[in-house]
Amino acid sequence: MSLVDGVGRSIDYLRLSVTDRCDFRCVYCMAKNMTFLPRQQVLTLEELERLAALFVGQGVRKIRLTGGEPLIRPGIVGLCRNIAALPGLRELVMTSNGSQLARLAQPLVDAGVKRMNISLDSLDAERFRAITRNGDLRQVLDGIEAARDAGFERVKLNCVVMKGRNFDEVPALVQYAIDQGIDISFIEEMPLGDVGRSRGETFCASDEVRAVIAREHGLIDSTENSGGPARYVRLARHPGTRIGFISPNSHNFCGSCNRVRMTVEGQLLLCLGQEDAVDFRALLRRYPLEDVPLVEALQRGLRGKPLRHDFSGAGEVQVVRFMNMSGG
Ligand code: 5AD
Ligand code: SF4
Repeated sequence: MSLVDGVGRSIDYLRLSVTDRCDFRCVYCMAKNMTFLPRQQVLTLEELERLAALFVGQGVRKIRLTGGEPLIRPGIVGLCRNIAALPGLRELVMTSNGSQLARLAQPLVDAGVKRMNISLDSLDAERFRAITRNGDLRQVLDGIEAARDAGFERVKLNCVVMKGRNFDEVPALVQYAIDQGIDISFIEEMPLGDVGRSRGETFCASDEVRAVIAREHGLIDSTENSGGPARYVRLARHPGTRIGFISPNSHNFCGSCNRVRMTVEGQLLLCLGQEDAVDFRALLRRYPLEDVPLVEALQRGLRGKPLRHDFSGAGEVQVVRFMNMSGG
């Protein structure tokens, strides 16, 4: 079984958002005052599980749970256990802001979550609070250490780089990753949702980040691929640490896209940079016992998956959706 889109790309990766809520309000992700969805518009745990089973039955091999912050959804550990047990799934992974990981890293490993990506944009407590609008750095660092020790197959940090906010911390963040023995990726900010400021002013291209790291640490190019859009390098003196660059604005990687996203409202997004969607919530609720109409909608949707995203007007909003709806 495999899922193929209209131009022959094989789609085996689903990113599933389990909540639009978050305990942080990162400046690149949310507006200061966000209104979250009323409960009946959000998929239930049963609906999330049904969708996961349906997609795995159709050929999806990897599922990433995202948010908002997935770990503030009540019942998340049980949901992970049930999804991880689906026959045919190769790996269940998660993206988190780390705030709950000191408590939940071990239960998540025990439930079958294989890898954990954790956001970390600054190592300075005041700056961290300014970027996340209310995050507590110490709590997140404790979460990262708990994840490192809990036995995930891989822990990776994600850092959105912004001029004037954290660009000068790139070498320190790399050093932190080396010290922790984990990997780190640097991400260009994407123009998703009106977050109440112009992104052009802080935009930082991956090539600049890479140049800074090369100067400080010396780089070895790598052809490694973890099945995503990141390009990797290793450090001359610390070959155990992988450094990734995710460059949605400066390097288009749509030709090898292998993924689709399900929003917390059950809208299947065929491309993060486009508005096209299929309403799975309506189908789930109209056909509580019958999967055939859902499978047909999935196949029809994939035939129309857009060829590529277009963030060419880098810095300006082109998609009105906020990132917390689609989970990155
Ligand atoms: N641009 C790039 N990455 C973003 N994220 C959230 N909003 C954006 C954006 N506008 C990513 C960050 C965060 C993860 C949850 O989603 O990497 O760590
Ligand atoms: Fe929350 Fe992640 Fe968005 Fe920050 S980027 S507000 S941690 S969902």
